[in-house]
Amino acid sequence: MARNCLIVYSSYTGNTEKVAERFGATFEKNGWVCDSVKIRKRADDILNPKFEINAYDFVCVGSGIRSHLPYNETLNVLRRLRLGTDPRYALRMRDETIPYITDPLPESPPPWNDASLIERHKRIVLGPDSPSAVVFVTYSGYEFGPKEAEPSLQLLELEIEHLGFECIGRFCCPGKFLNDPTPRTYHGDIRDRPNETDLLEAERFIEERLREIAGRPA
Ligand SMILES: Cc1cc2nc3c(=O)[nH]c(=O)nc-3n(C[C@H](O)[C@H](O)[C@H](O)COP(=O)(O)O)c2cc1C
Repeated sequence: MARNCLIVYSSYTGNTEKVAERFGATFEKNGWVCDSVKIRKRADDILNPKFEINAYDFVCVGSGIRSHLPYNETLNVLRRLRLGTDPRYALRMRDETIPYITDPLPESPPPWNDASLIERHKRIVLGPDSPSAVVFVTYSGYEFGPKEAEPSLQLLELEIEHLGFECIGRFCCPGKFLNDPTPRTYHGDIRDRPNETDLLEAERFIEERLREIAGRPA
């Protein structure tokens, strides 16, 4: 039976979407069944995700970057899955919220109390028997180049590994920053990025990962 893959991502200006689409086409070219879900700034997308993540052998999680971090939607849907409840309970501990979820958050939801918080934390060990994941971002990296993608890739990796998926790769490529001409920046003029070379790189990246896991149990 064909293995199945989920690509879950958010993209405001279409750059990350191009990579997501090339990833999907590459999985399908290699005989995988692939579902793709774009997460938008909507309460329903976060609180009632339309996918069952544990039904997949491979998950790709992607986002563009703003202010050094992946888009909140991507993080929040992963938090929703990790916490099993409204992610605003966790964000509240950081004095943050999700502005587009406007329903009031009950003050003390069972079982969100100290005892259950301690109970839910336990060591996670991942290995070849775990389902696989990759994380990906597009970014502009004006000042420092690829280094600017690292915090977002790490954060996405941490979230997906909390869901029991072993992260076996990180992919990033430049994505145009609106239509800014950017001659003085690290990557120079990126108004055509991601371009076909980036997308071929994306394709190669997935094919290498698939070779890597080819011998693993289904
Ligand atoms: C308001 C804004 C803030 C951004 N902040 C960053 C940033 O902090 N670091 C970075 O590398 N790129 C930054 N970017 C560039 C985007 O991450 C880049 O354009 C990305 O490819 C957008 O992805 P999308 O088209 O999938 O939404 C920013 C872009 C915008 C429009």
